[in-house]
Amino acid sequence: MTHPRRSFIKGITVAAVSAPILTSTSITAQEQNAITGAFATNLELKPLRFDPADLDGLSERLMTSHWQNNYGGSVRALNTIKQRISEALADDSTPAFVYNDLKREHLMRTGSVVLHELYFDNIAAPSNRDAELDSNLTKAFGSVQNWEKEFRRIGGGLGGGSGWVMLAWNTHAQTLENYWMWDHMHAPVASVPILVMDMYEHSYHMDYGAATAQYIDAFLRNVNWTEVATRLNSAIEHA
Ligand SMILES: [Fe+2]
Repeated sequence: MTHPRRSFIKGITVAAVSAPILTSTSITAQEQNAITGAFATNLELKPLRFDPADLDGLSERLMTSHWQNNYGGSVRALNTIKQRISEALADDSTPAFVYNDLKREHLMRTGSVVLHELYFDNIAAPSNRDAELDSNLTKAFGSVQNWEKEFRRIGGGLGGGSGWVMLAWNTHAQTLENYWMWDHMHAPVASVPILVMDMYEHSYHMDYGAATAQYIDAFLRNVNWTEVATRLNSAIEHA
């Protein structure tokens, strides 16, 4: 059964920018690429997998605004920037340095969209850690408490500013690590995101003001550890 609030969230209109209107019989390879490929301009918001009123210590107003305005703004901006990139690529008079201004924005908006989708999914349906995940954290950090201590400390250091904390599986080092990321583009090399925590002020200021530690407490109370374990198992398997 579809939850009424979820239906509301799903029902919010997200305008695509210049998305081609196609029928199933008229799609050319070029047009298909415009829908799904590198120059796609019809990206839409991924619906929340939870009722934003149900979280512990993160308000419905905060979560809805975060999803609709901050994450949604990045989705809409990414559509716009991909449209501008397509136009600039077709125009041979576009200087390379001007083109790369667009690619910088493309990099930043892509990071924002991906990280926000990981974020909302890893706080959907709070659950407990299983023994295997505890074992993997202990193997990497010495103990689960050590992992959490470092994760919290990185988050605290980002308070009042911007950035992300990421628990990731480093495919090169073959270990879990916590990373400090000061913006959407600071993704660690050779790492698969396992758990991400948004530390941009928009992710907590509405509820907690400058009380960063209280937000981190609330975030950790709402982690979907089942999703985290699934990501880790998938990352290890594919590595
Ligand atoms: Fe955010």
